[in-house]
Amino acid sequence: MKKFTSVLAIFASVCAAQPAAAFNKGDIIARVGATNVNPSDSSSNIFVGGADLGFGVTVDDNTQIGLNFAYFLTDKLNIEVLAATPFTHDVGFAVNDPLSTGNKLGEVSQLPPTVTLNYYFNNPDNALQPYIGVGLNYTFIFDEELSSSNEAIGLSDFSLDDSTGLSAQIGVDYMINDKWFLNGSFRWIDIDTDAKFNLNGTEGFVSSIEIDSIVTTVSLGYRY
Ligand code: NI
Repeated sequence: MKKFTSVLAIFASVCAAQPAAAFNKGDIIARVGATNVNPSDSSSNIFVGGADLGFGVTVDDNTQIGLNFAYFLTDKLNIEVLAATPFTHDVGFAVNDPLSTGNKLGEVSQLPPTVTLNYYFNNPDNALQPYIGVGLNYTFIFDEELSSSNEAIGLSDFSLDDSTGLSAQIGVDYMINDKWFLNGSFRWIDIDTDAKFNLNGTEGFVSSIEIDSIVTTVSLGYRY
């Protein structure tokens, strides 16, 4: 027991002896982890040849590998780029199985690169380094696919527009030592799009799909 308490005492002194953990002007940091994009979706109704079908679409969440890199312009401000492997989201009908083709309309992939300016409170005596930021997002939407049961009733040419929008985030880095740290962040991104398709030669569309998302990231970071 005495040995154990002395080991604990050594561990405590090592932790307490960590140098100031705050970031400094000129630091470059990289983080890798898991990023979940969860749309708080709402959409206008689906129209086919001018007729309102009376229901819209939904967009499900997806988790991918998230990467981000940041450069400290000053001790308190960094500029950060969020990247990730492509997210694939199920697109569904907002009502249950309206076309007797199942609840799923199809799926889309997207990449949401985001550039963010973050402000760090930068307390050098604390291992926790919280920050807030605002940014600009461009969401590339690609690989739009309809489910085979929807293709079977004559739906084709499903496409969604890319989106440009603002983002805001709160996050915190937990400094393990001078180089390594853990990170968690919540980001809101305004992602708005519209969809077009064809039904047996008749044009159809959804004029407004709000994919406004909560983007949650948990990652391991390294300071260069
Ligand atoms: Ni929006």
